[in-house]
Amino acid sequence: MDIRPVLEYISNHESRWITELCDYARIPSVSAQSQHGPDLRRAARWIADRCAQLGLETTLHETAGQPIVVGKTRNPDPNKPTFLVYGHYDVQPPEPFDLWVSPPFEPRVEGRNVFARGICDNKGQHLAHLNALEAWIHSGLPLPVNLIFLIEGEEEVGSTSLYHFLPEHAQELRCDAVVISDNGIPSLEFPALTYALRGITALEIRVDGPSRDLHSGLFGGSLENPAMALCQLLAAMRDGNGRITVPGFYDEVRDLTPYERTQMARIPFSEEAYRALLGVSQLYGESGFTAEERRTSRPTFEINGLTSGYQGEGSKTIVPAWAKAKITIRLVPDQKPEVISRRVVEYLQRLCPPTVRLTVAPGHGGEPYLVSPEGSHAQAALRALAAGFGHEAIIMREGGSIPIVSAFKRSLGAETLLLGMSLPDDNPHSPNEKFSLDAYRGGTRMAAHLWAELAAISR
Ligand code: BES
Ligand code: ZN
Repeated sequence: MDIRPVLEYISNHESRWITELCDYARIPSVSAQSQHGPDLRRAARWIADRCAQLGLETTLHETAGQPIVVGKTRNPDPNKPTFLVYGHYDVQPPEPFDLWVSPPFEPRVEGRNVFARGICDNKGQHLAHLNALEAWIHSGLPLPVNLIFLIEGEEEVGSTSLYHFLPEHAQELRCDAVVISDNGIPSLEFPALTYALRGITALEIRVDGPSRDLHSGLFGGSLENPAMALCQLLAAMRDGNGRITVPGFYDEVRDLTPYERTQMARIPFSEEAYRALLGVSQLYGESGFTAEERRTSRPTFEINGLTSGYQGEGSKTIVPAWAKAKITIRLVPDQKPEVISRRVVEYLQRLCPPTVRLTVAPGHGGEPYLVSPEGSHAQAALRALAAGFGHEAIIMREGGSIPIVSAFKRSLGAETLLLGMSLPDDNPHSPNEKFSLDAYRGGTRMAAHLWAELAAISR
C-alpha cells in the first residue's frame, strides 16, 4: 500500500505536534503524589479531547483511582483487523528539582530534544500514535484497521485500576494485538522491536533489634546491630561472581537461543560510551554474560532503598532499633513473581540470625514477557520500523517492566508489539528527562506504516 499522502501530511504538521506535545507535558500528572489529583484529571481530559478531536468514540471512565481513557474507531469494520494502542498519561515524580536544568513542567526545546518530566515516558510516545492517526484521517486514504486507544493514569504506580478494568471491558477491548510504545531503542539508526521484558517482584525487608535506639558506647558490642545484620543478610544474597545465591533462583531461567544471541550481537555497544552514560568507571555483573545480556535477559536482586539509624547532621552514637531495605527483583522468562518471592523470603528467614527479628512484606509484582519475534505481526512491525526510521530494524529484549502486558494476554488473549521510541539518554525517571524530536518524527512515521503493514498480513 502506498501511504505517501500520509507521510506527506506528517512532514507538514510536525511543528503543531511539537507545540501540542509541550502543552500535554506542561500538565504535572504525577500519579505517586496525591496533591496532583486535579492534574491527573486534566491530563486525562487533555488526551480524551485529543482522541475525540480525531473522531474516535471517546469515553473517560471513572475508576477508584485515575480515569481511564478509551477512544475507539466509530463503526468499526468487521472485515478489518483491530489493534489496541496502550499508553499512560501519568508521570514519575520530578524530584530532585535542583538537578533539572529547567523546570520539569516547563517544556524546553533545545536543538532536536524537548526536556520535561513524562515527555518520553510516556506522553510523547502515545501522542506519536495519535498524530499518525490524524495523518491517516487527512490523507484521503481509508484507514485499513480499527483502532482502540487505551490511555491510563496509574502506570507508574502499578496500574491497579486497569487490572480491574481489563476483564470487565474485555469484550469492548477485543483486538488482534496490542501495540505499546513505552520503551526504548538503542539509537535512531537501530529501530527495534522489543520481544521480551523483564518482570518484577518487590519486597520490603525490616530487621528489628532493641526496643529503642541505644547508646552505642554503653551497649554496643553486647547486642546485634540491626543495620549490620541487615547489611550482612543483603550481602549474602550475591556471590563473588555476581550470581544470586537464593536456592532455586535460576531454576526457570531460559538460556538465550543462538538466534537471539546473534540478533543481540547486532545491537551497537560501546563499553566506554555505556560507562559514561551510567557515570561509572567500571561495569559490574554476573560473570559469563555481556552487559546487554545482564541488563535485559538475566534476573537481578536490587536494593532500591536502605534506611536505618541517624541520618541528620553530625554524628549520633547509637545502635539503631531497626533497619529497612526496599528491594525489587527483576525476573526473566519463565520466572514467576510469587515463586521467586517465596524462595527469597524463605532464604532470608533461614539466614537471619536469632539476635534480631525479621519481617518481610511482599509488594507489587509483574510477570516477565516474551513473544516470538518471528510471528507475522512481529515481521510486519519490523517492516514498519524500518520504513518509519529509515534503517533496518533489529529485535531486542528490554530490562524494564510493563506488568500490564501479561494482563493484556490474560484478559484479552492478545499478544503485544513493543515499539519503543525512547533513546538510551532520554533519562526516564531521572532529572532532565527528554524526548528526541527525531524519534517523535520517526515514531510517528513508524506508527503510520504500522497500520498498512499489519492490515496487509491479515488480508
Ligand atoms: N516505560 C517504563 C518501562 C520500560 C522502560 C520498559 C524502558 C522498557 C524499556 C515504565 O513506565 C516503567 O517505568 N515501569 C516500571 C514498572 C514497575 C514500577 C512495576 C519499571 O520498569 O520499573
Ligand atoms: Zn516509567
